[in-house]
Amino acid sequence: NVLILDFGSQYTQLIARRVRELNIFCEIKPYNKVPEDMSSYKAVILSGSPFSVRSEDAPHPDLSKIKGKIPLLGVCYGAQYLAHFNGGKVEPSNTREYGRARLTNIKSDEPFFYGIIGGSQVWMSHSDTIQELPENAVVLANTVDVKNAAYRIEGEDTYAIQFHPEVYHTSQGKIILQNFLVHIAGLEQTWTPDAFVETTVSELRKKVGSDKVILGLSGGVDSTVAAVLLHKAIGKNLHCIFVNNGLLRKNEFQEVLDQYEDMGLNVKGVDASARFLDALAGESDPEGKRKIIGKVFIDVFDDEAHLVKDAKWLAQGTIYPDVIESVSVTGGPSATIKSHHNVGGLPDFMKLKVVEPLKMLFKDEVRRVGASMKISGDRLGRHPFPGPGLAIRILGDITREKVAILQEVDAIFIDGLREWGLYDKVWQAGAMLLPVNSVGVMGDERTYEKCVALRAVESTDGMTADWVDLPYEFLQKTSNEIINKVPGVNRVVYDISSKPPATIEWE
Ligand code: XMP
Repeated sequence: NVLILDFGSQYTQLIARRVRELNIFCEIKPYNKVPEDMSSYKAVILSGSPFSVRSEDAPHPDLSKIKGKIPLLGVCYGAQYLAHFNGGKVEPSNTREYGRARLTNIKSDEPFFYGIIGGSQVWMSHSDTIQELPENAVVLANTVDVKNAAYRIEGEDTYAIQFHPEVYHTSQGKIILQNFLVHIAGLEQTWTPDAFVETTVSELRKKVGSDKVILGLSGGVDSTVAAVLLHKAIGKNLHCIFVNNGLLRKNEFQEVLDQYEDMGLNVKGVDASARFLDALAGESDPEGKRKIIGKVFIDVFDDEAHLVKDAKWLAQGTIYPDVIESVSVTGGPSATIKSHHNVGGLPDFMKLKVVEPLKMLFKDEVRRVGASMKISGDRLGRHPFPGPGLAIRILGDITREKVAILQEVDAIFIDGLREWGLYDKVWQAGAMLLPVNSVGVMGDERTYEKCVALRAVESTDGMTADWVDLPYEFLQKTSNEIINKVPGVNRVVYDISSKPPATIEWE
């Protein structure tokens, strides 16, 4: 196990992803939460940081339990931190130290730099520089602007690099991480999806025993993979509940339910459309809609859960990015932009214990684990879809007619993306029903009907996104088909806003 201490860098999760890609398990913890017991950690990596080590309020954790005792790698701020507190000197740099640089004078006979070629490209992003190294340090490489680009401490397995090995632009970054973790720290690269399935299934069996477990399926990747893992472990004792909130895509409820049954899951489909749509009647406020949907979902789910006698556990498809404790670099709490209700956890009145088999996985790892359990690529490659569904894509109040219109429009758009081979090139796509009517002409008749906006974005995690440059021919064909086939719609527009400043959903 590898520990990554986070100093608030935007790249910390990327370090973890790279380590995991090497089939080595790792965890992220905030710099001020160094575990008391370090015995299970075979290596530690210090992340970068937006702070300067010279500043008073910068993170200055006590590393006495780590440095010199466990193999240690400092990255960027981590490298400066190791220099600053061990007799070196860190100062503001007067040359440009952002972006591409090339490693020179590499000590390639050192295990740390095995296989790294002279001139190898690295990515720099720092405004301080290490002017002087600690006395017992040995320089391992430099660049034109950075004389101490990599160093190690004599007599210890302590290494430090000024550049970021985790980013794509550091061409041999993964080899450097591998050298450190495998050659220096002696870790084995055995953490594969198959191994994860095997150990998780046996842990789940031990933890849950012959208890009954309840799980809410959403059709999404996370809950599906969590269900299949639990099903492997405890079979029919896993009781899945799949709720139709009436705000799903066209035919989605039946199709997905059929797929779940084909997978052998013990699943109950609950059509609660009317309960949701009645509760939503007249509500136009986006946050109001989310609250209503969240509440009705809990009510419906609770009713269903009570029907499973003697259930002891609630399983959730929580993944690692939802549970990583983040380091605040601004001091204040971050503003609530939208109240995503997935992370809220267990409602008080359901006194069940929680089991979260995917809690340590990143999204791409959830997909790989799913693939290793033979879940179809179609299900695993599915675009994200928001919990409140079409409710937050119908601007203004929600009616059954509007849901039906949007389902038709959405189906034409999404089926078209698949037919044109564009679906997998897009991270998320959908249609919005706008609360305006506009004038059109069909045949000889004047129309005054609804307008829909299509949105397709590229993203990696939904935090930032850019609109996708879909082929004009595709947009043209889709627009024609929507206007010709969906009564009540006479205008189609394409959303070309990036996030930020826009969001992916319109509400
Ligand atoms: P935004 O609109 O915030 O969306 O840019 C980012 C991602 O989150 C999804 N989203 C939600 N998911 N409940 C959810 O489960 C919500 O209330 C919600 N709002 C947005 C959105 O679809 C996108 O993938």
